[in-house]
Parts: sequence; structure tokens; C-alpha cells
Amino acid sequence: MNRSEINLINIGAYNKLAPVYKKRTITTGRYPVLTSILLDDGDKRQFFVIDSCQYNFEMAFIDFYTKQNGNQSLKMLDIGFGAGNTLNYFAGSDYETTGVDFSKKMCETAKKVSPKSEIHCADIFNVDFKDECFDVITMMSMLCQLPTRDARALLTQVRQWLKPNGYIYASTSVENNSESGVFVKETIGCYNLGKSTIKRFRTNYTIDRFIKLLESSGFGIVMPFITYEKNKKSKRQFQGYICKLR
Ligand SMILES: C[S@@+](CC[C@H](N)C(=O)[O-])C[C@H]1O[C@@H](n2cnc3c(N)ncnc32)[C@H](O)[C@@H]1O
Repeated sequence: MNRSEINLINIGAYNKLAPVYKKRTITTGRYPVLTSILLDDGDKRQFFVIDSCQYNFEMAFIDFYTKQNGNQSLKMLDIGFGAGNTLNYFAGSDYETTGVDFSKKMCETAKKVSPKSEIHCADIFNVDFKDECFDVITMMSMLCQLPTRDARALLTQVRQWLKPNGYIYASTSVENNSESGVFVKETIGCYNLGKSTIKRFRTNYTIDRFIKLLESSGFGIVMPFITYEKNKKSKRQFQGYICKLR
């Protein structure tokens, strides 16, 4: 599938999904526990494990890290911001926030959820920012919306937009295969969509594969997270990584 075919499917899907995404909230939840996770190649890695589907707990850590740099006018970019909850978290923490999302309904929702943020309703591949202008760039469940070749191209672009001492946060679900294609979406975090017929393009990532994508794109992992969904029907996990440029 080419990029415009994928965009057509995913814009349609996320226009329909905007009201459900709005229900997701930021939480400070329980403090994460450091746990060893065995990877496919037999290596062990330490992850911070958070027992909550109320994702975004990780944002507190990226906020903490960035503020260590002592910069007073911190700038944050959220790529694929959805309902705008992450933007609002950073705006409330005194960042200058900018978001890009190509779903018109998500943009309308985010303008209400995070009124202080600069919202660009556009395909991320059609926008440009100055080099080295952001302290934080977040891509939450966004790279998995793209074929891997495009995810790599986006990460290359992100390297340019990020300040040399800046941080990114990238997350996706934990899958046991590397399939890529158009799938029916059944859940959003802990919200079950029931008999959903909403289809969208996505690429699945195992833990190894997502780490390799980030590391081979020039990012070093500072803090890895696993979050568990509190959804009795699904035992899905999410993986998320705070990274720095290598
Ligand atoms: C799975 S949702 C995640 C939303 C939000 N980051 C969150 O974690 O709740 C993915 C979002 O990325 C947006 N998106 C996907 N591909 C995009 C692209 N090429 N350019 C801009 N936005 C895109 C979708 O419209 C959708 O809002």
C-alpha cells in the first residue's frame, strides 16, 4: 500500500475514534516497578513496569528529565496527538506545545482538550519545523501507524527537529508478530470497542523489533516502560521508551 492509501484509511478510522480517545486520561498511578524482561534473542533488559491502562504515566518522567536541563522555555511536539491529552499534560507543565495530527476530528477534540497548544491538522510528512527546535518529541502509538520504512523516515526527521540534549518518547503495543496491514481495531487501551468495524493500517512490533527500530534510527534508550491494560478480555501490554540522541 502506498502512503496516500494508508492515510485515507487511517484518517477515516481516527475521525470515528476521536470520542473514545477523549476518555483516556493522564494518571500518576502507582510507582513503576523495575523488572527484567527476556527478549527474543535471549537477552534480558530491565523495564519499568506500570500496572495501569491509564497510560501516560511515563510523561512525568520525560518532564522530569527535560527539566534537569534547566531550560526555562521548553518546547514540546506531539506527533499523532489523538485527543490532545498528552499536549495538555505538557501545556499544564509550562511547555510551549505543538501537535500534528491528520484527523480533523482529533484536531477539533484536541483544540478543546488543550486550548493552549498550537495544532497542525496535517500529515506529519507534509509539515516542517526548524532544526533543533524541540526539547521533547512524543510519538505515542504513532510509529505503528506507518510502514516500517516510513517510521524510519519519520525518526530521521525527528532527529533533526530535536535539540541535541532533547528527549523523545515512542510507544506501541507489544505484539508477538511483525505483521503489517489493514486490521479491525478491537480495543483502545482499556476501552473495548465491541463489534467494531473500524479498520486501520498498522505495523505490529515485538519488543525486540521496536527497540531495534529506535536504536538503528540513532536513539539510545534512557528509560524503557511496559504498561499492562486492566482489561479482562485482553492481556495486551504497551511498550514505551524515553530516548536521547546517540
Ligand atoms: C493510535 S492514535 C494515538 C493517539 C495518541 N497519541 C494517544 O496515544 O492517545 C494515532 C494517531 O496518529 C494520527 N496519525 C497517524 N498517522 C499520521 C500521520 N501520517 N500524520 C499525522 N497524524 C497521524 C492518527 O490520526 C491518530 O490520532
